[in-house]
Amino acid sequence: MEQQIIGILGSGKGSNMASIAEAIDGGRLNARIGCVISDVEGAGILDRAEQLNIPAFFISGDPYRTKLDGDAEQRYLAVLREHGVQLVALAGFMRILKKGLLDAYPDRIINIHPSLLPAFPGLAAWEQALDDGAKVTGCTVHFVDTGTDTGRVILQKVVHVADDDTPGSLHARIQEQEHLAYPEALGTIIQK
Ligand code: GAR
Repeated sequence: MEQQIIGILGSGKGSNMASIAEAIDGGRLNARIGCVISDVEGAGILDRAEQLNIPAFFISGDPYRTKLDGDAEQRYLAVLREHGVQLVALAGFMRILKKGLLDAYPDRIINIHPSLLPAFPGLAAWEQALDDGAKVTGCTVHFVDTGTDTGRVILQKVVHVADDDTPGSLHARIQEQEHLAYPEALGTIIQK
């Protein structure tokens, strides 16, 4: 089976990117990370990618703050194409994707979200779960469409909420499950 080239977009510390890289190194995923792109200068995900010798780029999303559109979208697309990316994985990328990128990679863009979608879309989903008094939450890997945290679900993992959970403790347990879920979900797509 042909090795897939994954492009990873992220805005944060990059722990999900690292879990994908680890699965590849461990021979659990027949893939290579072609490049990592962040819209946040100096983001942890870029440092971690560089440490792993993965091409890493900061590309500003300006003038937009919450979406990837216009010239910025074209700059992202150009770098993904230059690196032969076939599958795009959003790993803590905090912008909404628009038509240009979605049309360039139909059914080939996936995202991880820290809740059991459709519950708690949007920002700080673990805080939303706590505020709501939810007893279970978790994470979802799903295909990306034009909505916010919508799109067909690929895989979910459940996390129980403890009475004494804080936002930090709950997010940490969700992240443990994310690090299992993302490589597993990618495996199901890459096998097809
Ligand atoms: C992850 O928990 C991911 O689910 C979340 O950002 C975190 C990134 O962590 N994404 C969203 O909330 C997207 N709506 P990481 O940089 O350590 O992978």
